[in-house]
Amino acid sequence: MSVYTLSLIYSSIKGSPYVATRKKRVEEILKDANLKKGEIFYELGSGDGRISRLAAKKYGVRSVGIDVNPILVFWSNFLTKMHGLDDCKFIKMNIFDFDFSKADYLYIFLMPVLIDKLIPKLKKELKKGTLIISHGFKVKDKKIKLVKTTEAKMFNTYYYRI
Ligand SMILES: C[S@@+](CC[C@H](N)C(=O)[O-])C[C@H]1O[C@@H](n2cnc3c(N)ncnc32)[C@H](O)[C@@H]1O
Repeated sequence: MSVYTLSLIYSSIKGSPYVATRKKRVEEILKDANLKKGEIFYELGSGDGRISRLAAKKYGVRSVGIDVNPILVFWSNFLTKMHGLDDCKFIKMNIFDFDFSKADYLYIFLMPVLIDKLIPKLKKELKKGTLIISHGFKVKDKKIKLVKTTEAKMFNTYYYRI
């Protein structure tokens, strides 16, 4: 059984299967996010870390990826070291145990059921002005304002402001 298959099974059990955002799409999403150097970028369910890494490398944000899957976290940290990136790290943790209050940007590509569970925590912890980028699925809450939608073949991307 490959590492990829094991990761897929483990992540699925934990609530959201491991499916990576396509590389070309990552470039477009980050460009549309207008990231500012030095600000804080959290990726909830960071997979192989491709988004957090590119955000730190290209836009100079301080990226932190959180994933419950130890294989993916190990791999993400390994790739980050290989790229010699300082302002990017990955933590093995359940996103529900992580404090979001310092975030300027939050990236999620999670199953709708997990997003629904996350909403109270987002509303409680995120500061005003934080940009939530949700790839694939909408965040369904009246108080979290949709500011932009970008369309793509497989999955749209939704941008929200707290
Ligand atoms: C659809 S993948 C997205 C990966 C990456 N963000 C991307 O877009 O390429 C969802 C990720 O969320 C992680 N995940 C699922 N439930 C989680 C939880 N409760 N806490 C932390 N990570 C979780 C999975 O391990 C998986 O890597």
